[in-house]
Amino acid sequence: MGPQKKHNVLVTRPIFSRVIQRIAEHAHVSCPEQDRSLDPPELLERVRGADALLSFVTDRVDAALMDAADGLKVIGNCAVGYDNIDLAAATARGIQVSNTPGVLTEATADLAWALLLAVARGLLSADRIVRQGKFHGWGPMDYLGMDLCGSTLGILGMGRIGQAVARRAPGFGMRVLYTNLSGRDVSLKPWTLSGAEQDAGPSRVPLDTLLRESDVLSIHVPLSDTTNRLIGAEELARMKPTSVLINTARGKVVDETALVEALGNGTIAGAGLDVYQDEPALAPGLAKLDNTVLLPHIGSASVGTRMKMAMTAAENIIQGLQGRRVPNLVNTGLTSL
Ligand code: GLV
Repeated sequence: MGPQKKHNVLVTRPIFSRVIQRIAEHAHVSCPEQDRSLDPPELLERVRGADALLSFVTDRVDAALMDAADGLKVIGNCAVGYDNIDLAAATARGIQVSNTPGVLTEATADLAWALLLAVARGLLSADRIVRQGKFHGWGPMDYLGMDLCGSTLGILGMGRIGQAVARRAPGFGMRVLYTNLSGRDVSLKPWTLSGAEQDAGPSRVPLDTLLRESDVLSIHVPLSDTTNRLIGAEELARMKPTSVLINTARGKVVDETALVEALGNGTIAGAGLDVYQDEPALAPGLAKLDNTVLLPHIGSASVGTRMKMAMTAAENIIQGLQGRRVPNLVNTGLTSL
């Protein structure tokens, strides 16, 4: 006989059966059969009686939801970001909230580079030409993109993912600048650029310098009151007209309407986006711009990474249900633990 299952866990979207089985060793699990994000009334209805919630970035976990599940003890958000959760409301109710840091760092950094390369060399529009049967042979002035070697990569937010993006830069011969809103220095080992003399590694600069000097600006800050619309019309205007913006963090960090305008009038040269201000909707005009690569929020979408994320969320839930402090607690101000 296994342990008695006295807890109920709601997993809001179907995930790997191994993860469901792992939670089911400790609790009754309920999970919708169809994969779509539950709308707020459905979520409110389903969460009743749950002791734990395994949620995703598409779930708005607010005070009303927490009150509908008055036995809720732990929320395992299957994401590194947790701006979909009202943290203050959870803390006030003694609910532990956890995320899945670390396991998605490399996959997300890979995707930021995939976007960077795709925009810098116009991969998507070139691909369309070939598919449409319009490739009539090589031309010396066709499809001219930007050189990465010798250019500057600016990283806004040098946390785990920002650093992983930076670590890939020496392979492409790019200099790295970064801005941390906290003002914190990070120390990455000195790098060797393609066998040339030693480079000092990334340098921390104020945001204004980052905007003015970057050829590619890649965003890696979490969404907060400070970072909401951090990059607006004024900031875009300070960037080079040849520069490219990459966003794999959260759409709301950028004023998307201002971005559409900046891309349309040549204030900046291109953008690679994985996230949007009002996801899944796009700002008017964004999809019509040719100098963009637009992805459907897939930064962490590799089989191995998504498995690790889901397992991490599950382990947080299991620990929390056993009355322990969850390993990836984000509301560290909780006093009732
Ligand atoms: C995805 O957006 C995440 O925060 O993990």
